[in-house]
Amino acid sequence: MGALSGDRWKDVIVSIRKPSGEFRYSQLHVKRFEGLIPQGKSPTMELLADWGTTNSTVGELVDILKSNKLLAAACLLLPDTVDDSVPIVTQPASESVQTYSSRPTRVLEERDPQPPPVTSVLQTQTLLENSDPDQSGLSSFLYNELMTITGNFDDRPISDGGSRLGEGGFGTVYKGLLNDKPVAVKKLNPMEDVSIDDLRVQFEQEIQTLRALKHDNLVDMVGFSCDGQHPCLVYALMANGSLLDRLACLDESPPLSWLQRCTIAEGTARGLEYLHNNHHVHRDVKSANILLDENLVAKISDFGLTRASPKRTSTTMMTERIVGTRAYMAPEALRGEITAKSDVFSFGVVLLEILSGLPPAAENREPQFLMEMRYDIDDEDEDLTLEDFLDKKMGDWELSQSESIYSLACNCLLERKNRRPVIKQVLMEVKGVVKNILLDHKVQK
Ligand SMILES: Nc1ncnc2c1ncn2[C@@H]1O[C@H](COP(=O)(O)OP(=O)(O)OP(=O)(O)O)[C@@H](O)[C@H]1O
Ligand SMILES: [Mg+2]
Repeated sequence: MGALSGDRWKDVIVSIRKPSGEFRYSQLHVKRFEGLIPQGKSPTMELLADWGTTNSTVGELVDILKSNKLLAAACLLLPDTVDDSVPIVTQPASESVQTYSSRPTRVLEERDPQPPPVTSVLQTQTLLENSDPDQSGLSSFLYNELMTITGNFDDRPISDGGSRLGEGGFGTVYKGLLNDKPVAVKKLNPMEDVSIDDLRVQFEQEIQTLRALKHDNLVDMVGFSCDGQHPCLVYALMANGSLLDRLACLDESPPLSWLQRCTIAEGTARGLEYLHNNHHVHRDVKSANILLDENLVAKISDFGLTRASPKRTSTTMMTERIVGTRAYMAPEALRGEITAKSDVFSFGVVLLEILSGLPPAAENREPQFLMEMRYDIDDEDEDLTLEDFLDKKMGDWELSQSESIYSLACNCLLERKNRRPVIKQVLMEVKGVVKNILLDHKVQK
């Protein structure tokens, strides 16, 4: 392995952990290695020399290189350990489908052509003593501070005077007020099938992704806390909760209109287009992860707290939670493949939810999975028509527009990933429908 190009050694150095799981090198170490450059020394070589003084194995180094997508270097060290099924992709995300086998919200390339301002995990650590926002706008909070603003993580629902907004596979979300600004605090909990290490990886992945990627249709992270009993993530509060809850009219919220639904679909597609353009695959696109702000603008959430552990995606795990997630999974995603086209598939399920208002999976329903209802609608011998399928709670749909959205959903849901549209195309089609609805509204006025 020669020198790592550019600043790549920094990515490697911040990934190295002590056996205890703590990071081995601090920001100070990085600076020290950097200081070697003017002396004509190579930080990579010095890093390797330092590495050699510990009890570390080549296998561990290969793992770090692999996780940094430095597959060529890893191959040189231990050719057999690099999985052949993981191609080293250099093409940007486009028609060509990219396949990876690693963590959630994946970076799709060894290097981004227009890199977003990526900062290191290390900064997460050094931020501890700093509660002012850093350049990317993230603050580090004390656990106690978050306890105070959420009424000691009051588990009663908001409607009963508590702070609990909702619960997911990795923890519970609470409402709090931070200097008059409403926030959502996600307190991470190790669950039966998620180890504390998994949780840590998810926590860091989420912070890194949201630090680097900013878009109107992605949820805004305010900060985090890692000094307490539980790691916490702090987000801007989305006043209208999740699309899943609004489609179900939870807490008697009014049904979403056809225009609102299509505008939410457009916003979501726009957020996904941004992610894919920046070579990320979300891997957990679902209506529970589409949050709605006070103006019903769609914000995609959960960038690291997705299905990382292979245990959680295994088909043998049939807890309710897995069923919920499986309801959005493309066939290749079920086999462990990671491609932007699987996000498109999951978005197809979200479009069916928007059209029908039905939950993505229901135990006592035939078929159990919403995605399978398209076979009944398309089958001439079955009684179910698209009109029957449409949500009766929205009175203002227009048949040709809902047919367009339905046929788009079906294309997103094609079994063969190469036949599905790319997200750019999906966005264009949803935009077309929104334009039509707005035109209709104008004519009616
Ligand atoms: N920023 C936020 N503003 C308002 N509500 C939120 C916010 N973040 C999360 N929630 C609420 O908390 C719920 C739980 O979120 P969480 O991400 O923990 O779980 P999930 O998305 O339902 O499932 P999973 O853990 O599988 O992603 C959401 O469905 C949503 O209703
Ligand atoms: Mg979520």
